Amino acid sequence: MENIYESSRLLDEYLLFHYGSLDEALSDNGISYPLSMKEAWGFPSRTARGFSKSKVDRGLDLGCSVGASTFAMAENCREVIGIDYSHSFIAAAERLRNGHQIPYQRIDEGHVTTLLHASLKLDFEIKNIIFEQGDAHHLREDLGTFDRVHAANLLCRLSNPNLLLERFPSLLRDGGELLIATPCTWLENFTPSIHWPSGSTLDWLKSHLWKSFDLARTWDEPFLIRETARKFQWSTSQVSLWRRKA
Ligand SMILES: C[S@@+](CC[C@H](N)C(=O)[O-])C[C@H]1O[C@@H](n2cnc3c(N)ncnc32)[C@H](O)[C@@H]1O
Repeated sequence: MENIYESSRLLDEYLLFHYGSLDEALSDNGISYPLSMKEAWGFPSRTARGFSKSKVDRGLDLGCSVGASTFAMAENCREVIGIDYSHSFIAAAERLRNGHQIPYQRIDEGHVTTLLHASLKLDFEIKNIIFEQGDAHHLREDLGTFDRVHAANLLCRLSNPNLLLERFPSLLRDGGELLIATPCTWLENFTPSIHWPSGSTLDWLKSHLWKSFDLARTWDEPFLIRETARKFQWSTSQVSLWRRKA
């Protein structure tokens, strides 16, 4: 099956989602957008700031897409690895890391687009950030262990999320933090229903993770993906923060 995350439409959509300003996403074109839409903007860097504030050694961003969460994690991690299955998303993240601007099209109406540019605007130095293409089902064995692992809106895009849940304990150092965000949109297109949770997604996570992790807290995090000036995906992810038991 074709991977939608390799399409130019989704690359443009995710460049706007990760790097577009509020004005670029909800530009003043006579449409009056509700405040709740504006508040939902900035999801990729907001979830990455859901960890505790201390400085740590290593972070991992799984399903990093075009990289905004990975860059945000680098503020408090000495080294961060961002991994995504999409070659085109990883290539874009890598170009941004190298200081390039990326032109992309924002769709205003079905037939009308505006040329925008994605670039990094960070107020800290970026170093020790690695982007690599990889499969969250079969992460390479020599990745090592991490103080922070971020997996935002990834689980319900995997064909077998159980494989990643089984891998989490060996990715986290004792006391390390695992942040999972999910809108719980289980879809056959991505995940065969035999691998869906039988009850609530949070109960399913607890049943898989309780042996190795304490659940520190949960909260809701809204996000907004712009399709056109008049059509958006407004969703709320359930975020859970887990601490690796010693
Ligand atoms: C819904 S997007 C979320 C992206 C990003 N974390 C965010 O919050 O904007 C899902 C991402 O997971 C990636 N993905 C899908 N299957 C994957 C896999 N098996 N391994 C790694 N990444 C995968 C997709 O390429 C896409 O970037």
